[in-house]
Amino acid sequence: MGKNPDNLMIAQGKYLFTIGGCNDCHTEGFIQSDGKVPVSEWLKGSTFGWSGPRGTTYPRNLRLFVKDLTVDQWIQKAKTLKRRPPMPWFDLNAMKEDDLRAIYNFIKSLGTPGTQSPDFIPPGMDAPMPHATIPGPPQSH
Ligand code: HEC
Repeated sequence: MGKNPDNLMIAQGKYLFTIGGCNDCHTEGFIQSDGKVPVSEWLKGSTFGWSGPRGTTYPRNLRLFVKDLTVDQWIQKAKTLKRRPPMPWFDLNAMKEDDLRAIYNFIKSLGTPGTQSPDFIPPGMDAPMPHATIPGPPQSH
């Protein structure tokens, strides 16, 4: 009791980011350090790329993504956006509105947005930075 509702929402947002696995890709070095990246560095995007038949993608800086969005604009985008692999956009689309509000409040609480991750590299072009290779979808017979 007596807790500030905004702080409760921020804590819930942090929890959702954690169990949602978003840091695994969107926070530099998260998997490699067994998740030991300080919260102050979370969600600034990553230079570790993912190469596959649809090109090489870099997890975007989510602080920058929400920087100029109202909470309602964020909810609208999160429920409809589609991105290239390995972004699990279909999982984000399924998130409930209250949860999306909480994660918005959490990202906004993180402070300086930092810089954007490297640009997408089209299929067939070399990715200069470290990257993982992901297969295409299973072939149908
Ligand atoms: C397996 C890695 C991975 C995970 C897990 C992941 N993402 Fe992503 N995400 C990406 C990549 C890579 C992109 C960029 C895709 C592209 O370039 O099309 C991206 C793009 C996005 C974008 C669009 C950003 C923009 O600037 O257009 C949003 C929003 C986003 N992710 C949110 C999330 C949230 C929230 C979670 C957790 C529920 C999450 N992502 C989990 C890899 C991931």
